[in-house]
Amino acid sequence: MSAATLFVTGGAGFIGSALVRMLIAESGWRIVNIDKLTYAGNLESLSQVTSNPRYLFSQTDICDRDALDRLFAEHLPSGVIHLAAESHVDRSIHGPADFIETNIVGTYTLLEATRAYWMSLATDRKSAFRFHHVSTDEVYGSLGAEGLFTETTSYSPNSPYSASKAASDHLVRAWQHTYGLPVLVTNCSNNYGPYQFPEKLIPLMILNALRGKALPIYGKGDNVRDWLHVDDHVRALWRVFEKGLPGETYNIGGHNEKTNLEVVDTLCALLDELRPRGDGRPYQELQSFVADRPGHDRRYAIDATKIERELGWVPRESFESGLRKTVGWYLANADWIEHVVSGEYRNWVKQNYSDRNAA
Ligand code: NAD
Ligand code: TYD
Repeated sequence: MSAATLFVTGGAGFIGSALVRMLIAESGWRIVNIDKLTYAGNLESLSQVTSNPRYLFSQTDICDRDALDRLFAEHLPSGVIHLAAESHVDRSIHGPADFIETNIVGTYTLLEATRAYWMSLATDRKSAFRFHHVSTDEVYGSLGAEGLFTETTSYSPNSPYSASKAASDHLVRAWQHTYGLPVLVTNCSNNYGPYQFPEKLIPLMILNALRGKALPIYGKGDNVRDWLHVDDHVRALWRVFEKGLPGETYNIGGHNEKTNLEVVDTLCALLDELRPRGDGRPYQELQSFVADRPGHDRRYAIDATKIERELGWVPRESFESGLRKTVGWYLANADWIEHVVSGEYRNWVKQNYSDRNAA
């Protein structure tokens, strides 16, 4: 029997590509990766699965209803894991339009295409179908010194990014409540790991350090983020998709709260050990305190007891082990980084992709 098909949107991004690599390597799913290939989409991150017969790629915008309808009709998926989004807070501050378009209108369009397809399914396939929406803890707003976000924390998004994700979470929930679409929502803390676009804190600091450039720390560096290795996140997504209860939300986090300064100090110490500077001076000298991000959320921290208790998921990586591996990966994958920095990754599809994969 041929493998059941799963749609993954945003599969050429940081978390989506980690999910696709894991599902192809460790599950039996046939994956159709639906991605528009914005600046954040990089097919080179999927080079290890490109020739796998269970992997297909379609360059499609989730705002394009006709294209989505064609994909559903052609591939008859058993579910959707939706990651496609504009994902960077600083970009959302400088230009929110794409965030409204993709995160809100795109999620709405995908929900409607999914609903039309789901309505056409026979009863058993209809009840087994899942629409899994991947979201962020930033929808809950900012914490003070105490407390954790739980699944019942009220929404209070502060940035254009988090407001657009909050809107999409509400749409997904409403599609379950109103139409009965079997949905799952996960809200995860900050991810780090290999193949992350170097606009986010950790890869940006590693790249700048290696190039002898300043390490820009917003404000005093005392804002707190709760870090999770991307492989732990995608293991949690897989678990929720296959075992989660429709209509439920699951928070995902690794209990790894760090100030930004702690993160950058740790990165500097790891680089001092693994790739000392030519002149023997410490990387810490490159740290530079710069103007704060407008509306900068103070602290995020996730209570992940629900997913642990109900679905048995716990992270495998500690922050220390995960960060060491991540620095090692960026040091060992100079080509991937070079292609991103030079912009060459945008041509990777033309140079390396066979026609078979262009669905
Ligand atoms: P990313 O920016 O690395 O990747 C996003 C992907 O979506 C890219 O491949 C891009 O080409 C694609 N995309 C963007 N607009 C599209 C459109 N209109 N149609 C089709 N594809 C489109 O993002 P990421 O960090 O991998 O995040 C993935 C998801 O996880 C997002 O929904 C994000 O909100 C959520 N999330 C991220 C984090 C994090 O720390 N990075 C934490 C929690 C949740
Ligand atoms: P980021 O990786 O952009 O994720 P998010 O804003 O979604 O949490 O930023 C993580 C933290 O690091 C956040 O508090 C902002 C801070 N930061 C810096 O201090 N300097 C930087 O250059 C960047 C990109 C982020």
